Amino acid sequence: MKRWSQINALYQIYPRSFRDSNGDGVGDMRGIIERLDYFKGSDDSLGVDAIWLSPFYPSPMADFGYDVSDYCDVDPLFGTIDDFQELLAKAHDLDIKVMIDFVPNHTSDEHSWFEESRSSLGNPRRDWYVWRDPQPDGSPPNNWLSFFGGSAWEFDEITGQYYLHSFLSKQPDLNWDNPEVRRAMGDVLRFWLDKGIDGFRVDVARVISKDPELRDEPENPNYHDDGRSNPHHRLIHQYSQYGPHLMQYWQEMATIVAEYPEAILLFEDYPGEHLSMEEQYRLFYDINPGLSMPFNFQGLMRDWNPRSLGAMINEFQGIVRDNDRAVYCFSNHDQPRIVSRYNGERARLIAMLLLTLPGMPVMYYGDEIGMTGGVIPSDQVQDPVELREPGRGLGRDPERTPMQWNEHEHAGFSDHTPWLPLSPDVDPVTVQQQDDDSYWQLYHQLLRLRRDEAVLRGNDYEEIICGDAMLAYRRSNNEKAFEIYLNFSADMQTIGVAQGVQAIVETWPSDKPRIDYTGLMTLGPYEGVVLELL
Ligand code: GLC
Repeated sequence: MKRWSQINALYQIYPRSFRDSNGDGVGDMRGIIERLDYFKGSDDSLGVDAIWLSPFYPSPMADFGYDVSDYCDVDPLFGTIDDFQELLAKAHDLDIKVMIDFVPNHTSDEHSWFEESRSSLGNPRRDWYVWRDPQPDGSPPNNWLSFFGGSAWEFDEITGQYYLHSFLSKQPDLNWDNPEVRRAMGDVLRFWLDKGIDGFRVDVARVISKDPELRDEPENPNYHDDGRSNPHHRLIHQYSQYGPHLMQYWQEMATIVAEYPEAILLFEDYPGEHLSMEEQYRLFYDINPGLSMPFNFQGLMRDWNPRSLGAMINEFQGIVRDNDRAVYCFSNHDQPRIVSRYNGERARLIAMLLLTLPGMPVMYYGDEIGMTGGVIPSDQVQDPVELREPGRGLGRDPERTPMQWNEHEHAGFSDHTPWLPLSPDVDPVTVQQQDDDSYWQLYHQLLRLRRDEAVLRGNDYEEIICGDAMLAYRRSNNEKAFEIYLNFSADMQTIGVAQGVQAIVETWPSDKPRIDYTGLMTLGPYEGVVLELL
């Protein structure tokens, strides 16, 4: 098997939307098994070394699987545990690593642990969740807000107390300060590691430790509700997350994972309000160097501006040490699709950037064909965030529409009406349509290059240009050197390049950048190129 350091990219599969094998309109395990050769194994495979599956555990699906009612099984909607074992075995046969989602902060309210916990004040599992008395006037114990709108507390009539839920009321927060909870969650990690999985993506990592006194959070003076803002930002979240025991709890997780050679932990953590980039990312790398790493979501927060992106990359590469793996990520199941965010063809530059930066890039299903965000009629909205805070643009259904395989009905995703409508771009954006200038070819070529060239996966990064129009950088080691030039502007750009270079990947293969005999290269609007220095 390849080691994680040899992986060219990690591909996120949102199982509901990847491929439906049994005609119920929802993707499933067998659908993924059927399509494993899409990733690797034949000449027309995309060529990806690792996949990450968003949650497939039994769940009432209030948050589409991020509300888990049993951590050690597969929801019948997706298949069986045997299907998962088969998927894992077949993926490993193809030398594809498999990462799964670990959701430590909360369970479903339909998990047996919570059902027991809520049943009486004296239940042995009472303290597995965060229960508090109402304030004297009956109001919630403090002012904390749910990420998904409204108070983070729900009153439970059975025992007359409130329970904490950082997300939906159907997602009660586990009490990680209770050692029994940590033991039980450690057993969950072992259960899947024993099955042979290669790593976990850790959901909302920062939230599992809270202020022991549950103090009120201060108002955010910069928050103004303009109807499009996220009401969660009304407060500064200094007590409801990043609590004093966070490092200890993460280290306990890592100690278990370290018992299994090569397994890794990849932490979800968005840029915070009160930590510098260095403070935030070092926290995760230092848990267990080499084994633990954070997503770098900085690119999601930046405008279309090469200066700002270039500055971010420089700063980040200064933070990453030899043993650390950079994990850049520009899209996932919670964020608007790249093509929608950056207006069409400009997204090609992001593909080239992502797949030529150091470390292990993460891509999201459908990015490789340039899928755009869906348009969801109000009567078909599924995402609880959009249902609770409608019209603010916070809904996540648009990036979760079915994978577009071919031109058949329902885009080859299913032979039944899918759970979400297809994106309007389905014609002509499908896997089947792979002309030379397609997104698919661009991803395919970049992935192949990254598979073959260790230097691209290493940490070396040297900026060449970081201006208002261009970002350019060199990736080199003792044996090889590549230079990547990205024109972020709508104008042609002419740049001097070294003698004896060869363009090996272009954003538009049919219209290659021109390099004249004096070594001047001209890039068209939003054009990018990977040059090899010979
Ligand atoms: C993470 C997931 C998101 C989910 C939330 C609550 O941010 O990516 O989809 O809704 O956690 O589990």
